[in-house]
Amino acid sequence: MMNKQDKVYVAGHRGMVGSAIVRKLQAEGYTNIVTRTSKETDLREQKAVRDLFAREKPDQVFLAAAKVGGIQANNVYRAQFLYENLMIESNIIHAAYESGVKKLLFLGSSCIYPKMAPQPLKEESLLTGPLEQTNEPYAIAKIAGIKLAESYRRQYGCNFISAMPTNLYGPNDNYDLNNSHVLPALIRKFHTAKVTKAPSVEVWGTGSPMREFLHVDDLADACHFLMEHYDEELFLNIGTGEDLTIKALAEMIQDIVGYTGELKWNTDKPDGTPRKLMDVGRLHSLGWRHRIGLREGIAAVYAEFAKSELARV
Ligand SMILES: NC(=O)c1ccc[n+]([C@@H]2O[C@H](COP(=O)([O-])OP(=O)(O)OC[C@H]3O[C@@H](n4cnc5c(N)ncnc54)[C@H](OP(=O)(O)O)[C@@H]3O)[C@@H](O)[C@H]2O)c1
Repeated sequence: MMNKQDKVYVAGHRGMVGSAIVRKLQAEGYTNIVTRTSKETDLREQKAVRDLFAREKPDQVFLAAAKVGGIQANNVYRAQFLYENLMIESNIIHAAYESGVKKLLFLGSSCIYPKMAPQPLKEESLLTGPLEQTNEPYAIAKIAGIKLAESYRRQYGCNFISAMPTNLYGPNDNYDLNNSHVLPALIRKFHTAKVTKAPSVEVWGTGSPMREFLHVDDLADACHFLMEHYDEELFLNIGTGEDLTIKALAEMIQDIVGYTGELKWNTDKPDGTPRKLMDVGRLHSLGWRHRIGLREGIAAVYAEFAKSELARV
């Protein structure tokens, strides 16, 4: 169990996931939260990480710092995605062991699963086949993170756990159209089209692939839940267990944004994997379920987006 007085280090606190974890911890009454920007402590640097842990001696660690990006960035900056993520997770996990951290949660993503793994994706599918080529370096780094947590547990008895979230959305998401995920990209496209009174919006692919989305506040709730209640070696999927087609998602966002023009599917563009759904049976059996419905979550996110600088066209 976590204690409200515990010193909790949230690595990556300015990111979408880290900031949601900080909000959750603050709402729960934690007052001793340690944070560092990448400028203050570059987590790729072993000495900097060692010094941070020696100075702060955190009781609990949420490892939500990572080099993250879309398909394009993952594919082009392959060396950086592999090197930086390996360094960040190795440095933190080793320093957490050396400084006697009571519990650590490592966060990965659904890209760790083999490309052809059966859907919905079960935890047992890890390392059963080849990975998707475009983000293989990132996935390999994340698999190494799972294995670090597992190995420090087996060899040194550390209570280090891992969780793999599905696609996330929420506050502090990335709306840069060159580099963003489908959901924020659609919000931005429809919003811009509404403001500029564009007659149509182009969306890539056929609209038939199916995807799952989880609000990042639900993820933060699940992370806190696991830190309180889960002490096992096996990593866990975190998701809703529900998916929808990209077409249904686009129409939902179009409706929420209030764009009345036409939606045009550019079928020359690739669709990607036909389906990507997490099996969340294990998480549900522990007693955790998501609370924020997709429509409700997107409506809240859009309301914030529309008020922000990002909405200027
Ligand atoms: N976003 C998703 O849909 C999604 C889905 C599944 C899993 N995840 C996982 O969740 C985790 C966090 O993702 P996110 O979306 O929150 O990413 P994000 O918004 O890009 O945030 C990443 C954070 O990592 C920190 N960071 C990166 N390099 C660093 C370095 N060298 N030293 C110190 N800090 C560094 C950044 O710190 P500064 O801001 O200080 O530079 C930033 O706050 C990742 O492990 C990712 O795989 C995300």
